[in-house]
Amino acid sequence: MILITGATGRTGKEAAQQLVAKGVKVRALVRNPAKAAALQAAGVELAPGDAGDAAAVRRALEGVSGIAIILPNGESQLALEKQLATLAAEAGVAHIVKVSSVESVPGAPNPVHRTHWESEEHIRSLGKAWTMVRPSFYLQNFLSNAATIKAEGKFYYPFGDKGAAVLTDSRDAGFFVAHVLSTPGHANKSYDITSHELLSFHQIAAVFTQELGRRIEYVPQDPAAYKAFLGRFVTSQWHLDAVCDIFAEISHGYVSRTTNTFAEVTGREPISLAQFIREHIQVFRA
Ligand SMILES: NC(=O)c1ccc[n+]([C@@H]2O[C@H](COP(=O)([O-])OP(=O)(O)OC[C@H]3O[C@@H](n4cnc5c(N)ncnc54)[C@H](OP(=O)(O)O)[C@@H]3O)[C@@H](O)[C@H]2O)c1
Repeated sequence: MILITGATGRTGKEAAQQLVAKGVKVRALVRNPAKAAALQAAGVELAPGDAGDAAAVRRALEGVSGIAIILPNGESQLALEKQLATLAAEAGVAHIVKVSSVESVPGAPNPVHRTHWESEEHIRSLGKAWTMVRPSFYLQNFLSNAATIKAEGKFYYPFGDKGAAVLTDSRDAGFFVAHVLSTPGHANKSYDITSHELLSFHQIAAVFTQELGRRIEYVPQDPAAYKAFLGRFVTSQWHLDAVCDIFAEISHGYVSRTTNTFAEVTGREPISLAQFIREHIQVFRA
């Protein structure tokens, strides 16, 4: 039995579905079981509970051999992940898999990346087999640009003209999590998984133009104005500051390396930006 957190989210849903498709028994720790009805219908057992509720987590860990720790970025992420991993180790879980990110390195200045690194370090200290799955900028982030792409043929970020990103589809991240939990040989390995694409945001706009058959433009935004705009929606100051710091890093092209790890380990090619757009054509087409 594999326990998975974040199964109603982008990465976790794909991981749960892929594991079920492979015939692996999966249990999902979910805060809101109503949101997980489709997963349950697909054969995922639901364990109601918040990751911060130790009693609920202990119940969910009964009979579990492997856990996928997948939680969103936030001020409480480190404490939640450390507690989950510790409880898993105490419950005798043999293999702890964590979704982290490629930017998470020792001494990372950004709190999101530092959180991931410190969580990784905690997991490595527990004496259990571990695997770190480290994707880069999710293609799914562009779904939040669909409205302006549709209406105006434009999308807006504060990444300047030189900003660039190494892209990963969150479905590939979930697929990879399922792979390392269902095949041997991944104990104590750290995998930086990306697609083959390192693209500037102007180049990304060109791929949208090509796939949608009409001109799509990336329009760089003033960072301070963009932060003020985002602040209308993001309620946590910690999160707002962290995300805007990441934006500043992206505008300086801080992740500059793709890897071939996804294909080498899984035997299939990662999803490209063009493929992602084609598969979401109804979302982006005006
Ligand atoms: N976005 C990117 O570009 C990117 C790139 C690389 C790595 N990553 C990493 O990927 C990880 C997962 O991101 P994602 O995009 O898959 O997340 P997501 O779609 O936002 O999903 C988050 C999931 O976590 C669940 N959750 C949140 N708080 C919880 C709690 N206290 N207890 C139990 N469950 C809780 C949510 O459940 P509810 O449905 O109840 O809300 C949801 O299922 C993050 O750690 C992020 O750093 C992201």
